Amino acid sequence: MKRVLKWIGIVVGGLLGLIILLGAGAYTVSASRLNRTYEVTADFTLNVPTDPESIAAGEHLAAVYLCNDCHEANLAGHLFVDDPVFGQIYSANLTAGENGIGRSYSDEEIARVIWYGVKPDGSPTVGMPYEFYQAISISDMENLIAYLRSVPPVDTNHSPASYGPMFRVMHVANQFPLIPAERVDASQPPRDPISPEDTLAYGEYVATMCTHCHTATFAGDEFFGSPNITPAAIGGWSEAEFVRTITEGMRPDGTQIAPELMPWQSISQYSDEELQALWAYLQTVEPVPVTE
Ligand code: HEC
Ligand code: HEC
Repeated sequence: MKRVLKWIGIVVGGLLGLIILLGAGAYTVSASRLNRTYEVTADFTLNVPTDPESIAAGEHLAAVYLCNDCHEANLAGHLFVDDPVFGQIYSANLTAGENGIGRSYSDEEIARVIWYGVKPDGSPTVGMPYEFYQAISISDMENLIAYLRSVPPVDTNHSPASYGPMFRVMHVANQFPLIPAERVDASQPPRDPISPEDTLAYGEYVATMCTHCHTATFAGDEFFGSPNITPAAIGGWSEAEFVRTITEGMRPDGTQIAPELMPWQSISQYSDEELQALWAYLQTVEPVPVTE
């Protein structure tokens, strides 16, 4: 979790004393929230394909939706957070190898984890993104699972997560949306497929990934250091300048965006169709004045 850890690192530096004071109280509250179970009431059935084209479409989604960033290129997961104050958290093994969820979960159970953050035993996932995952359309979810089912099995033996005092304080203070199941609407059925021909609707769909950091209004967030990307900020850019910024990390003025801050290496895998739709849509969002 390189990116998120950076943000956390900034806060850890400043808050260490406070954490020690609050840690004990936070432990009790966070334990009760972490140990809760959740129920998904939304009803759906999946038809996961097995043809090479659908698998390739799923592989593309796994790359642009950052699955590989956190679960590794081979999807076997790794020690994702390893920090004395934050704890030790492994990202899950998604393959069909030993201790991989691909071995034991049904297609619907995998989808429930990704859409709603709820595991088959009702326990919540911790640290998985959710705002843009709940928006994944049903056909994209089917392709994504087709891809997960196609990867070579890898055996792993990850330890269960242990949450440190920092994690618990931030969780209780709602500083980070760590438990998706606390936030998503578990009764909301999956979205219908969005046709790429419907450019603006498709652009809005593609842009849900950007809201993870740039917020739902695209006005940016000071805490995360994500800038305003509404027309008030980047309306004067050309489409080519926009595309170069988000796929190569190079702004029109020639300055660079560090890949740890904004995942432009993953974004560079978007198709031309996706990038065009994204640009068309972003030009239509409500301009939010830029604050310094
Ligand atoms: C920001 C990092 C991050 C990203 C991005 C991410 N994951 Fe995860 N994922 C995690 C972590 C950490 C866990 C372990 C959480 C837990 O067990 O509570 C996890 C758990 C899971 C689980 C549940 C495993 C279980 O034990 O039930 C599934 C399924 C999963 N991820 C699939 C995906 C897919 C598919 C994508 C891309 C669409 C994805 N993840 C993207 C960090 C991430
Ligand atoms: C993981 C968080 C994250 C995600 C996801 C993300 N961004 Fe960013 N983005 C940032 C941060 C942080 C910066 C500022 C980087 C810096 O200051 O060097 C940035 C910078 C930008 C800039 C440059 C703006 C400027 O005025 O300098 C653009 C344009 C942009 N992002 C568009 C997007 C689009 C479009 C998406 C979705 C496809 C996206 N971002 C997804 C975090 C993110």
